[in-house]
Amino acid sequence: MAGEQPVENLDAAAARVELKRLADLLGQANRAYHTEDSPIMDDAEYDRLRRRNSAIEARFPQLKRADSPSESIGAPLADGFVKVTHSQRMMSLGNAFSDEDVAEFVDRVRRFLGLPAEAGLQFTAEPKIDGLSLSLRYENGQLLQAATRGDGTTGEDVTKNALTIKDIPHFLHNAPEILEVRGEVYMLHRDFDALNKRQMEAGEKPFANPRNAAAGSLRQLDPEITRSRPLRFFAYAWGDLSEPLGETQISALNHLELLGFSVNALTRSCASLAQMLAHYRDIESRRAILGYDIDGVVYKVDDLRLQTRLGFRSTTPRWAIAHKFPAKIAHTRLEDIEVQVGRTGALSPVARLLPVTVGGVVVSNATLHNEDYIAGYDSTGQTIREGRDIRKGDWVEVYRAGDVIPKIRDVDLTRRPADSTPYVFPTTCPECGSDAVREPGDSVRRCTGGLSCPAQSIEKLKHFVSRGAFDIEGLGAKQIEAFYHDDTLSIREPADIFTLEQRDAASLTKLKNRDGWGEKSADNLFAAIRARRKIPLPRLIYALGIRHVGESSAQVLANHFGTWTAFQSCLIEAKNETGPAWDELLSIDGVGPVMASALVAAFHQDASRALINRLLRHLEVKDAEPTAQDSPIAGKTIVFTGTLEQMTRAEAKARAESLGAKVSGSVSARTDIVVAGPGAGSKAKKAKTLGLTVLNEVEWLELIG
Ligand code: IVH
Repeated sequence: MAGEQPVENLDAAAARVELKRLADLLGQANRAYHTEDSPIMDDAEYDRLRRRNSAIEARFPQLKRADSPSESIGAPLADGFVKVTHSQRMMSLGNAFSDEDVAEFVDRVRRFLGLPAEAGLQFTAEPKIDGLSLSLRYENGQLLQAATRGDGTTGEDVTKNALTIKDIPHFLHNAPEILEVRGEVYMLHRDFDALNKRQMEAGEKPFANPRNAAAGSLRQLDPEITRSRPLRFFAYAWGDLSEPLGETQISALNHLELLGFSVNALTRSCASLAQMLAHYRDIESRRAILGYDIDGVVYKVDDLRLQTRLGFRSTTPRWAIAHKFPAKIAHTRLEDIEVQVGRTGALSPVARLLPVTVGGVVVSNATLHNEDYIAGYDSTGQTIREGRDIRKGDWVEVYRAGDVIPKIRDVDLTRRPADSTPYVFPTTCPECGSDAVREPGDSVRRCTGGLSCPAQSIEKLKHFVSRGAFDIEGLGAKQIEAFYHDDTLSIREPADIFTLEQRDAASLTKLKNRDGWGEKSADNLFAAIRARRKIPLPRLIYALGIRHVGESSAQVLANHFGTWTAFQSCLIEAKNETGPAWDELLSIDGVGPVMASALVAAFHQDASRALINRLLRHLEVKDAEPTAQDSPIAGKTIVFTGTLEQMTRAEAKARAESLGAKVSGSVSARTDIVVAGPGAGSKAKKAKTLGLTVLNEVEWLELIG
């Protein structure tokens, strides 16, 4: 554009002026587009200005503005969506599959709060909509940003698309200054049918179910496509708020409805377990005539103060649960049984099925769990299909519960071919030929090849680059598979990813000439890899793919240890599974002996330790941030002993943890504070001997405010 200097000619002063101009201009363009529906520039110009802004920021990172357009709302980039970090994590829900599970949930809530059986406790019950969740941020009544859930922490900016959804107001009157409304985007059955009809007429692939159609329609780079797909939105939760919406879940939902949101009309307030279950049955009986898909009922503690007291586990609230509807079933023929080798060496049998529709989704594979399951036993060794093992050629009953992988429940012996023989589970690894053994008490047979088994190495690498781990853009399962088998570009272990860029010229040329690749894709990949050299501690721990250590355990470990050095030294010291380091591991809430053993082993088996060391040479690990840095107990280790009177032990523990403290079960020299209620015995005594701070409950409550 006239008057604009090339980015490389700008000095710092000129760059500062230009960044301000771009922030203002793009801000105006956003407002004009999003709220006045009258764009002041076309998309190409908008994208050009954003790119110019990013290029200047890349040259002068210290000049990046707080209101930088690259951080805030924006149009989709040509190659994807802008990432959005949620101001408050978008959580998922724990599941209940039976009335007993729900009863247990209610008991758990009561126990946590220390409520006696006769004290009233109100819950809401509402349909669980089978769509995808969306967070809408309003400031001063204007919709500024819509973001998908993504991994819960970071989602995608789909503002332009959300603005095309009729149920989503662009402006709110008399709304709190800051209001984040959360809910579900979904599609009505009739709209889904019409859409699929159009898809097929246009020679396009139909969508498998309304949920997929809704997700595919919302995540369109061209908002005009989204506009042509009739999406809807139910509000059921919220994130950031400048003032409360009400004192109860029900009153907050009413408030949202008054502001103009659709709130599901089947939401009820229930005063007892019996009422909750009755409403569940009622919703279940209407399921077929609702006109949209639901997959269960969500119960939530109604009183919002109690919700706050209950708080969250790592990914789910303690105050809510999803009561799922029973699985959907179908019958089909099992054509073959294949055995896959996972990243921990587990041999997993997979059923290849004659494709069949189960609850609207075409299913052609199902898990068979392990060799016992095929023979007819469950994980505890109990018979589940008396005399009915699963064989190739059998007719089987397939079921799907919610989003989970399809499973095989039963076999129809009347249709079994006369010449069928029992399935013989392999005792060697189908990938590398090593022995596959079952440890006593383990239902899973594992390949003993370790990192020399290509299947295990590849699966470990895929895990390493997966979403919750290093999440390297442009390096997914497909690329890992290809790079692993490529002799010159070879990526055989995580460290190789970080030396990819340093391969010899011939290999790099080969990389750039790969099908569908070019100079640009290769450079983008290198940049994405470089960006990940600085890695947050929880991601690194999770990425190592240690058995039993999932994403939330990795987070727990990172919170506890804070730094890689502390984490590693503890595991090295815990070598013989005794001593203070081992005790420390076991004192962490959520870490049991099985996980602790696996962690220790990962740092003591030669091959695995060497692999970790080679990887660490390329990384800078970002320490875990204490959850609440400015709390007086952040980073402290606390032991509760005796009876507490104002709250239950579970609540006290959860409160302390949410304020950044570690809670331990035993007093040692590493303890900072002991909170002793009436009846405290040996632990309080030991604390006094060690000269530790001992507080009573009142002093403790004063300390944490
Ligand atoms: S409440 C902190 N209510 O189910 C709890 N979720 O399996 C926030 N969902 O991610 C969720 N209907 O996408 C809630 N009435 C409802 C829902 C609902 C559907 C979805 C939501 C969530 C997922 C968890």
